[in-house]
Amino acid sequence: MGGQHFRTIWLKPDDQRVVQLIDQRFLPHRFTIEEVSSVDQMVTAIREMHVRGAGLIGASAGYGMYLATIEAAKRPGVAEFDQHLASAAAQLKATRPTAVNLSWAVGRQLEKIADGKTTEEKIALALRTAKLIADEDEEHCRMIGQHGLSLIQQIARKKAGKPINVLTHCNAGWLAFVDYGSATAPIYAAHDSGLPVHVWVAETRPRNQGSKLTAWELSEHGVPHTVIADSAGGHLMQHGEVDLVIVGTDRTTHTGDVANKIGTYLKALAAKANNIPFYVALPSSSIDWKMRDGLKEIPIEERGAEEIKHADGWLEGRQVEVRVAPEQSPAANYGFDVTPRHLVTGLITERGVCEANEKSIRALFPQHAP
Ligand code: MRU
Repeated sequence: MGGQHFRTIWLKPDDQRVVQLIDQRFLPHRFTIEEVSSVDQMVTAIREMHVRGAGLIGASAGYGMYLATIEAAKRPGVAEFDQHLASAAAQLKATRPTAVNLSWAVGRQLEKIADGKTTEEKIALALRTAKLIADEDEEHCRMIGQHGLSLIQQIARKKAGKPINVLTHCNAGWLAFVDYGSATAPIYAAHDSGLPVHVWVAETRPRNQGSKLTAWELSEHGVPHTVIADSAGGHLMQHGEVDLVIVGTDRTTHTGDVANKIGTYLKALAAKANNIPFYVALPSSSIDWKMRDGLKEIPIEERGAEEIKHADGWLEGRQVEVRVAPEQSPAANYGFDVTPRHLVTGLITERGVCEANEKSIRALFPQHAP
């Protein structure tokens, strides 16, 4: 690593039928690369969160569909080929419900693969599309960094050399995408340009993507940061210690409602109450062009109770898990919440910054006209 960000998913250089990815389960303690060569393995990697984060989930699904074409080619006829693809698509889409990037990538693959006349052509198209999805994700995040940088520069002018304090939640860093990250891209760009940024990293219970992944990314990059309990954000805002909030999103409706990791909504409420700008950084692959009402329509993932009742960490060279809550207590584990558009100051996309409303979003992406 040595301070550098890293691509999170790629093809094995000497065997193009194998996908390699960073297995995030053991970070920040152990850096592991996993090899995935079947749809089943990719389904497990997404569902069990070896890979996670909306952009990376989408890119992984894109490569999963490429693996599906290789598997389907071993089937006897055209109908069997199509059947295998349809079943792989359904399996991949069922892994995690909230991030729209997943169904977007699978749909894009199915459309492209259908253009192929022969099996070989279909495999080649799926490979090209998987690479394109990954390359676009990387480029879009790089652009988000440039557009978000201007926002941080504006705040820096008012702070006259004092640190600019950014609060973020969960991990919307390069680990959550193919590279650069969404919420972290402007932070890295600001830091690299010499601005004194400091990041408040909310730990993000129950899986601690903040204290495990965002803190690791920022320390590798040399960005000053402090890990805080999730519930500390409001206190810091009341005391003038937060200049700006930037978070990512797993699905933002084209009307501006934002689904992101559970706890985001409370931060948006506190930011509004304290007059602090609350920005959401996202590539357009995270925009849902069908849903209008995020609160009513976005599916919220519910995960196992053990994630709430237990905590894990590193002890003498291995990951250990301990129980925190009483064994007999039930627990509910909602993975995401929806922040309504009126709490969002703006969206930072690959095409620029816009307001969180239909008119402003459509103006940036006119190709999605109703
Ligand atoms: O459950 P995760 O770790 O996949 O959730 C990730 C987040 O909530 C990120 O903030 C989100 O994906 C937006 S940035 C890709």
